[in-house]
Amino acid sequence: MARFTLPRDIYHGKGSLEALKTLDGKRAIVCVGGGSMKRFGFLDKAVSYLKEAGMEVELFEGIESDPSVETVMKGAAAMQKFQPDWIVAIGGGSPIDAAKAMWIKYEYPETTFEDMCKVFGLPKLRTKARFCAVSSTSGTATEVTAFSIITDYEKGIKYPIADFEITPDVAIVDPELAETMPKKLVAHTGMDAMTHAVEAYVSTANCDYTDPLALHAIKMIENDLVDSYNGDMDARDRMHNAQCLAGMAFSNALLGIVHSMAHKTGAAFADYGAHIIHGAANAMYLPKVIAFNAKDETAKKRYGVIADFMGLGGSNDDEKVKLLIEYLRGMNDKLNIPHCIKNYGADSYPTENGFVPEEVFLERLPEIAKNAIGDACTGSNPRQPSQEEMEKLLKCCYYDTEVDF
Ligand SMILES: NC(=O)c1ccc[n+]([C@@H]2O[C@H](COP(=O)([O-])OP(=O)(O)OC[C@H]3O[C@@H](n4cnc5c(N)ncnc54)[C@H](O)[C@@H]3O)[C@@H](O)[C@H]2O)c1
Ligand SMILES: [Zn+2]
Repeated sequence: MARFTLPRDIYHGKGSLEALKTLDGKRAIVCVGGGSMKRFGFLDKAVSYLKEAGMEVELFEGIESDPSVETVMKGAAAMQKFQPDWIVAIGGGSPIDAAKAMWIKYEYPETTFEDMCKVFGLPKLRTKARFCAVSSTSGTATEVTAFSIITDYEKGIKYPIADFEITPDVAIVDPELAETMPKKLVAHTGMDAMTHAVEAYVSTANCDYTDPLALHAIKMIENDLVDSYNGDMDARDRMHNAQCLAGMAFSNALLGIVHSMAHKTGAAFADYGAHIIHGAANAMYLPKVIAFNAKDETAKKRYGVIADFMGLGGSNDDEKVKLLIEYLRGMNDKLNIPHCIKNYGADSYPTENGFVPEEVFLERLPEIAKNAIGDACTGSNPRQPSQEEMEKLLKCCYYDTEVDF
């Protein structure tokens, strides 16, 4: 038996933030990030809509990018105190993910972070509150997914929490919120969405329900991401839907080792002054993983279908895989994203000497590879890498060398 789960309601289109007026409850806690939602006036609007719905409103502000276990615990304590029956998370993937984890701890105060990370092992939520997610970036699609990514900074590791219990009840996909994104964020979150759709399409858990969503998302991202990056606001609006479709696909079809590697490298070099931003990591690793996975016949055929759907040409699957890889690398160039970790600057832009020194990378490689294999996204990848293969693959992602194994 397979399961396909989405939020009960997805409000989309310009001005759909107003759907907050339709929520039915007494107390809403609004979880937000560092200030962009306040700065652009969306937070005030959200609060006034909730008040119009007759709710008492409290804010939990300042959720950082790549949220920590500590932030989750703090937010849950604020919820314990206020006793909301609606949790409304507004912003990028970070505040929405953090709010999802806070929700678990609020409903079950005895739960530890380790308990939360047991894949598809959460108890029933919604005994205290329901969850509404309003996304302001066009990438993670966490407003419709069963996932939340929380970082354990002591270990330098990102942990995915995965369970349909944390699929929000209501998602609001209002493109007006995405129009204020700076270019770099458009690039990173957009390639995150592309990776979601491609990984979902070749995942071993793909199905008839997820395939059309993944393919349509890929086509839309092909058509609109670069234009959105270059300031075309109609393309920006369509990207907000495209990333959501990709999210509906991967929430139900799961992901693959591009994400496993991005999760385990993202914060692994934080002591050298930067993170490898999630979407940029995906953009760099995706072409390498396609080459690796294409050694599996079923995956190769599926990449061929993607290439056909994108209209890339090629007369057999080997050619189509090559053209797909070339196309994705071309997108990285147009979006000013480097091709490998060696050339990834602390500001995320391509540079001769990136922020991760070679010797540090090689020293940490065995541990990172082991962690990536153990990541929750590895299980649904079409090819299961050995420790040796994962180390080789990560080296290709560091040096931008060809994957021939
Ligand atoms: N839950 C999932 O299914 C899932 C999937 C992929 C990634 N993730 C996680 O999501 C996080 C990344 O989320 P993200 O890429 O959305 O970025 P983010 O939420 O970390 O935000 C990045 C920055 O952009 C700013 N910002 C957000 N929206 C803006 C807007 N509209 N205008 C101007 N500035 C804006 C924020 O204030 C912040 O400074 C990572 O931790 C990643 O691991 C989760
Ligand atoms: Zn992602």
